[in-house]
Amino acid sequence: RTVVCVVGARPNYMKAAPIVAALRDSAALTPMLVHTGQHYDPDMNEKFFAELGMPAPQSNLGVGSGSHAVQTAEVMIRFEPVLDAAQDPILLVVGDVNSTIACALVAAKKGIPVIHVEAGLRSRDRAMPEEINRVLTDQISDLLFTTERSAAANLTAEGIDAARIHFVGNVMIDTLVANLPRAISPAETLAAAGLPVVDRFAVSTLHRPSNVDDPSVLGCLLDCLSEIGRDLPVILPLHPRTRARIESCGLSAKLDGKTILPLGPQGYLAMLGLMKNATLVLTDSGGIQEETTALGIPCLTLRDNTERPATVAFGTNTLVGRDPARILACAREALAGGGKAGRIPEFWDGHAARRIVSVLETAFT
Ligand code: UD1
Repeated sequence: RTVVCVVGARPNYMKAAPIVAALRDSAALTPMLVHTGQHYDPDMNEKFFAELGMPAPQSNLGVGSGSHAVQTAEVMIRFEPVLDAAQDPILLVVGDVNSTIACALVAAKKGIPVIHVEAGLRSRDRAMPEEINRVLTDQISDLLFTTERSAAANLTAEGIDAARIHFVGNVMIDTLVANLPRAISPAETLAAAGLPVVDRFAVSTLHRPSNVDDPSVLGCLLDCLSEIGRDLPVILPLHPRTRARIESCGLSAKLDGKTILPLGPQGYLAMLGLMKNATLVLTDSGGIQEETTALGIPCLTLRDNTERPATVAFGTNTLVGRDPARILACAREALAGGGKAGRIPEFWDGHAARRIVSVLETAFT
């Protein structure tokens, strides 16, 4: 059977890559990779496919940016004929982006089995578009693969049959484990961007609408980073959306090249090198909370909640919200050597994709 694997946005690539690779080794199942085109800049795209050794997508829907309704609807309209043309398809979606729910909905209405990888994560914050995508995708999925134990309880509380849920671990950590030896050194990344090469640094990423869309929130977070940057420089790889907001809000002067070292969007191997060698990471990303836990690097999450509680319960993650006093106090504590130690959650061991494919082989052949 054909397993149609969908990717749309940057965090999807690291999750799909090991699954596609494991499916290529399967005698019974054949992967077919479809890119919705939700992310389209080369820096958010081709670079990752090359680094992760992923085959070029068999189809790119070229959807691009738009309002949530437009983007989701365009993915649905363009995905349907691709799915119709696939032989005896099963749909596999990862994560929580708009492309995930859009394709899951198309398949579910056609009676095509839907598999959701990274199921059951809940922030319980419906103001996050991703939370809506997670809840709805899980409701229409036939098989649900979870990354941490807490996810199964979230799913059964929403009425999902426990027999459909499989705890397999974290495919994003499969990619991390496989690529760690190839991580690009921070010195190379900084020099390539014409920035001063520093040994000791923090790394930050910001892209959530709740952190970057309001100029006063964004300005305040940049001020915090700059303050931390007086102790050690903060490397800030910028999502295109964040760069655009910084420019349109007149905040560019805060990216001074001393306390804050701004970079363009980084490839996977450069980002891995930055995280692995950072003294501290400050982020609003979901994936980076998990990657820092896997790497054992202290992470301050600039949000009030997380859908990935294992990173806090077992890992190196601390939720600090957006209050400058709390962010600075936690950052100073971490820099003074009091950064949270952690352990690696169960099954974040590099073999999650193999477990997924073995369940699929049993279920579908
Ligand atoms: C999406 C995901 C988010 C994920 C993030 C990772 C949803 C609802 N959100 O957010 O969960 O953490 O990807 O990056 O699916 N843009 C570009 N070039 C691109 C892509 C986007 O310039 O290649 C800019 C455009 O101005 C666009 C904006 O970024 O309007 C937002 O892009 P969009 O795909 O809507 O969501 P992200 O913020 O990237």
